[in-house]
Amino acid sequence: MKVAIMGYGVVGSGVAAVLKQNFAHIKKNSVSDGLELKYILDLRTFPGDEFESLVINDFNTILEDEEVKIVVETMGGVNPAYKFVSSCLEAGKSVVTSNKELVATKGFELLETAKRNNVNFLFEASVGGGIPVLRPISQCLASNEIKEVAGILNGTTNFILTKMIEEGAAFEEALKTAQQLGYAEKDPTADVEGLDACRKICILASLCFNKHVYPDSVYTKGIRGITEEDVENVKKWGGVIKLIGSSKKLDDGRITAWVSPAIIKNGSQLASVSDVFNAVLVRGNAVGDVVFYGRGAGKLPTASAVVADIIDCAQHIKERKALGWEDASEGYVVPFEETVSRFYVCTDSDKAKVDTVFGVVEYISANAFITEEMTYAQVCKKAELSGGAKSIIRVTDY
Ligand code: HSE
Repeated sequence: MKVAIMGYGVVGSGVAAVLKQNFAHIKKNSVSDGLELKYILDLRTFPGDEFESLVINDFNTILEDEEVKIVVETMGGVNPAYKFVSSCLEAGKSVVTSNKELVATKGFELLETAKRNNVNFLFEASVGGGIPVLRPISQCLASNEIKEVAGILNGTTNFILTKMIEEGAAFEEALKTAQQLGYAEKDPTADVEGLDACRKICILASLCFNKHVYPDSVYTKGIRGITEEDVENVKKWGGVIKLIGSSKKLDDGRITAWVSPAIIKNGSQLASVSDVFNAVLVRGNAVGDVVFYGRGAGKLPTASAVVADIIDCAQHIKERKALGWEDASEGYVVPFEETVSRFYVCTDSDKAKVDTVFGVVEYISANAFITEEMTYAQVCKKAELSGGAKSIIRVTDY
């Protein structure tokens, strides 16, 4: 079966490598006529590259070639990826993508287009890189009502926080190390400000709760404001600060969905996830808590998930995988201000004032404490009334 790749960057070249390296294995075990790479679409040229002869720069070559049944999109970004993917689906080709921005912003539409054309649109690699998580949720956990999904969804920020926690590094210093090691981009905004994790929690929440969640409805805060003082205070309390993406189903049918630094108690499975590793915790009403752990980024781990999706498409030509969800609805995501948890507060205000305004708190040090459960709006108001806070970080219960 013939396959095309659109976008020959880190992931696209990994997909080409895995298809070649594992050709015989895939032919023997999964797709009897094998998976043959026919085209690589990219605007650049790759002189001397082993797949140089497959590189084309006209998208229509792929679109008009009836032999190509499966197209891989590893270009990134929404434009022109959205247009190309829509056209391929309309032309009766299944599409596999690793592009989280595309799925988070256009997933509902693309799944509907796939359905109309009786083809598949799969995106396992868009969350957790090489970690199997979307297919296990949609298939192995299908018997469960999912109550909550949360995780460490970004390797770069987890690496930075690990350096801060384990080596006492300052944020800027840890970021520089992440850039030197090639984890963080030159412009680290998407990782550091939580945008990448936001796209991933949108995809997870859409799948777990069967309704699309768009990034602009998800409160998103990155790790730039975390100080060495916060890290030390939280360590003293018995926890770690992680960048968490979280979504929870409420009894009234709405969901919470946010990305923010959050405190995880030592002993939780998520607390020990360090360096560039990712982990996703899913809370089902029959299975309880399950955690998926592994490499959330990187050329071959991500390609591993993409090629598994290609195999799945090849095994389901002219057959639909049961994957899809409803479109978003107004008021579905609870405003972050209304979400409830305990909070860590670090302040310069005097203790008497804190005690008067906050009531019962658990002191970590003279100027840092953990509150009782309250909404985010309440903790902000109380912090203001007691003279202002240097940091407010939510405390999770997983
Ligand atoms: N830059 C991301 C990370 C990988 O650091 O986890 C791709 O989503």
